[in-house]
Amino acid sequence: MNSEKSGNKQSKKPSVDGTIICHCFRVTDKVIEEAVRQHGLKTVQDVSQSIKAGGGCATCRVDIEKIIERVRTHSTQQACAEPKKTEKIPSKKISESDRETLIKKVLMEQIRPLLLADDGDLELVEITGKTVRIKIWSSDPDNPKAEATLLHSITGILHELVDSDIILEDVTS
Ligand code: FES
Repeated sequence: MNSEKSGNKQSKKPSVDGTIICHCFRVTDKVIEEAVRQHGLKTVQDVSQSIKAGGGCATCRVDIEKIIERVRTHSTQQACAEPKKTEKIPSKKISESDRETLIKKVLMEQIRPLLLADDGDLELVEITGKTVRIKIWSSDPDNPKAEATLLHSITGILHELVDSDIILEDVTS
Protein backbone atom coordinates (compact mmCIF):
# COMPACT_ATOMS: atom_id res chain seq x y z
CA MET A 1 0.00 0.00 0.00
CA ASN A 2 2.63 2.34 0.94
CA SER A 3 3.99 2.74 -2.50
CA GLU A 4 4.71 6.43 -2.41
CA LYS A 5 8.23 6.06 -3.42
CA SER A 6 8.42 8.73 -5.98
CA GLY A 7 11.52 7.43 -7.64
CA ASN A 8 12.53 10.92 -8.56
CA LYS A 9 15.01 11.33 -5.80
CA GLN A 10 17.68 13.42 -7.22
CA SER A 11 20.86 11.51 -7.41
CA LYS A 12 22.89 13.17 -4.77
CA LYS A 13 26.18 11.71 -5.71
CA PRO A 14 28.85 13.47 -3.80
CA SER A 15 31.36 14.68 -6.23
CA VAL A 16 34.49 13.31 -4.71
CA ASP A 17 36.89 15.92 -5.85
CA GLY A 18 40.25 15.14 -4.41
CA THR A 19 41.42 12.45 -2.05
CA ILE A 20 39.41 11.47 0.98
CA ILE A 21 41.41 12.39 4.03
CA CYS A 22 38.81 11.93 6.73
CA HIS A 23 37.10 8.62 6.16
CA CYS A 24 34.80 9.03 9.13
CA PHE A 25 33.08 11.98 7.49
CA ARG A 26 34.19 11.40 3.89
CA VAL A 27 35.91 14.74 3.60
CA THR A 28 38.46 15.26 0.86
CA ASP A 29 41.68 17.22 0.88
CA LYS A 30 40.11 19.76 -1.48
CA VAL A 31 37.25 20.44 0.89
CA ILE A 32 39.63 20.82 3.82
CA GLU A 33 41.89 23.13 1.82
CA GLU A 34 38.95 25.28 0.81
CA ALA A 35 37.63 25.50 4.37
CA VAL A 36 41.06 26.44 5.74
CA ARG A 37 41.48 29.06 3.04
CA GLN A 38 38.03 30.58 3.27
CA HIS A 39 37.58 30.57 7.03
CA GLY A 40 41.18 31.04 8.09
CA LEU A 41 41.15 27.83 10.10
CA LYS A 42 44.31 27.31 12.12
CA THR A 43 43.95 24.03 13.94
CA VAL A 44 42.50 20.58 13.42
CA GLN A 45 39.93 21.49 16.05
CA ASP A 46 38.90 24.49 13.94
CA VAL A 47 38.52 22.18 10.95
CA SER A 48 36.47 19.68 12.97
CA GLN A 49 34.14 22.40 14.18
CA SER A 50 33.75 23.80 10.71
CA ILE A 51 33.41 20.72 8.49
CA LYS A 52 33.58 17.80 10.97
CA ALA A 53 36.74 16.32 9.44
CA GLY A 54 39.01 15.03 12.16
CA GLY A 55 36.23 14.95 14.71
CA GLY A 56 35.78 11.19 14.69
CA CYS A 57 38.42 8.54 15.17
CA ALA A 58 41.17 11.15 14.78
CA THR A 59 43.39 9.03 12.55
CA CYS A 60 43.30 11.74 9.90
CA ARG A 61 44.45 14.51 12.19
CA VAL A 62 48.08 14.43 11.09
CA ASP A 63 47.04 14.70 7.45
CA ILE A 64 44.70 17.58 8.26
CA GLU A 65 47.51 19.37 10.09
CA LYS A 66 49.71 19.02 7.02
CA ILE A 67 46.98 20.47 4.82
CA ILE A 68 46.48 23.41 7.19
CA GLU A 69 50.19 24.12 7.18
CA ARG A 70 50.44 23.79 3.41
CA VAL A 71 47.48 26.08 2.68
CA ARG A 72 48.46 28.71 5.19
CA THR A 73 52.10 28.82 4.09
CA HIS A 74 51.05 29.03 0.48
CA SER A 75 48.48 31.77 1.05
CA THR A 76 50.88 33.90 3.03
CA GLN A 77 53.58 33.61 0.41
CA GLN A 78 51.09 34.31 -2.33
CA ALA A 79 49.68 37.32 -0.56
CA CYS A 80 53.14 38.67 0.01
CA ALA A 81 54.09 38.01 -3.59
CA GLU A 82 50.91 39.54 -4.96
CA PRO A 83 49.89 42.37 -2.70
CA LYS A 84 46.46 43.82 -3.06
CA LYS A 85 46.49 46.73 -5.39
CA THR A 86 45.79 49.74 -3.30
CA GLU A 87 46.23 53.35 -3.97
CA LYS A 88 49.74 53.55 -5.27
CA ILE A 89 51.16 56.99 -4.90
CA PRO A 90 54.04 57.84 -7.15
CA SER A 91 57.07 58.37 -4.96
CA LYS A 92 57.98 61.72 -6.46
CA LYS A 93 54.66 63.26 -5.52
CA ILE A 94 54.42 61.90 -2.04
CA SER A 95 55.24 64.05 0.94
CA GLU A 96 57.21 62.64 3.83
CA SER A 97 54.19 62.54 6.11
CA ASP A 98 52.04 60.92 3.42
CA ARG A 99 54.74 58.35 2.83
CA GLU A 100 54.90 57.59 6.53
CA THR A 101 51.13 57.24 6.68
CA LEU A 102 51.11 54.95 3.68
CA ILE A 103 53.93 52.82 5.05
CA LYS A 104 52.03 52.38 8.31
CA LYS A 105 48.86 51.56 6.44
CA VAL A 106 50.48 48.95 4.22
CA LEU A 107 52.41 47.36 7.09
CA MET A 108 49.68 47.33 9.68
CA GLU A 109 46.53 46.92 7.59
CA GLN A 110 47.75 44.71 4.78
CA ILE A 111 50.80 42.79 5.84
CA ARG A 112 50.36 42.34 9.58
CA PRO A 113 46.94 40.65 9.35
CA LEU A 114 48.44 38.11 6.96
CA LEU A 115 51.28 37.38 9.34
CA LEU A 116 48.95 37.14 12.33
CA ALA A 117 46.74 34.73 10.45
CA ASP A 118 49.80 32.57 9.99
CA ASP A 119 50.93 32.85 13.64
CA GLY A 120 53.59 35.37 12.79
CA ASP A 121 53.68 39.05 13.67
CA LEU A 122 55.20 42.36 12.83
CA GLU A 123 55.88 45.49 14.85
CA LEU A 124 56.71 48.84 13.37
CA VAL A 125 59.59 50.31 15.37
CA GLU A 126 60.32 53.54 13.54
CA ILE A 127 60.32 55.31 10.24
CA THR A 128 63.20 57.65 9.57
CA GLY A 129 62.91 59.19 6.14
CA LYS A 130 62.90 56.25 3.78
CA THR A 131 64.30 53.82 6.32
CA VAL A 132 61.71 51.64 7.99
CA ARG A 133 62.65 49.53 11.00
CA ILE A 134 60.46 46.67 11.99
CA LYS A 135 60.46 43.63 14.21
CA ILE A 136 59.23 40.55 12.49
CA TRP A 137 58.35 37.05 13.62
CA SER A 138 57.64 34.28 11.17
CA SER A 139 55.37 31.33 11.81
CA ASP A 140 58.42 29.12 11.60
CA PRO A 141 60.95 30.37 14.16
CA ASP A 142 63.12 27.28 13.66
CA ASN A 143 63.73 28.22 10.08
CA PRO A 144 66.34 31.00 9.97
CA LYS A 145 65.50 31.76 6.35
CA ALA A 146 61.81 32.33 6.99
CA GLU A 147 62.20 35.82 8.44
CA ALA A 148 64.68 36.84 5.77
CA THR A 149 62.22 35.68 3.12
CA LEU A 150 59.42 37.63 4.77
CA LEU A 151 61.58 40.73 5.03
CA HIS A 152 62.40 40.44 1.35
CA SER A 153 58.71 40.04 0.45
CA ILE A 154 57.65 42.98 2.60
CA THR A 155 60.37 45.15 1.10
CA GLY A 156 59.02 44.29 -2.34
CA ILE A 157 55.50 45.27 -1.29
CA LEU A 158 56.64 48.60 0.12
CA HIS A 159 58.63 49.29 -3.03
CA GLU A 160 55.59 48.45 -5.12
CA LEU A 161 53.01 50.35 -3.14
CA VAL A 162 54.87 53.19 -1.54
CA ASP A 163 58.34 54.04 -2.73
CA SER A 164 61.03 52.04 -4.46
CA ASP A 165 63.72 53.72 -2.36
CA ILE A 166 62.47 52.41 0.95
CA ILE A 167 65.01 50.52 3.01
CA LEU A 168 63.48 47.98 5.34
CA GLU A 169 65.48 46.86 8.33
CA ASP A 170 64.71 44.03 10.71
CA VAL A 171 65.64 45.04 14.25
CA THR A 172 64.05 42.08 15.95
CA SER A 173 67.11 40.84 17.81
S1 FES B 1 39.19 9.53 9.63
FE1 FES B 1 38.87 11.56 10.19
S2 FES B 1 38.02 11.46 12.12
FE2 FES B 1 38.22 9.41 11.53
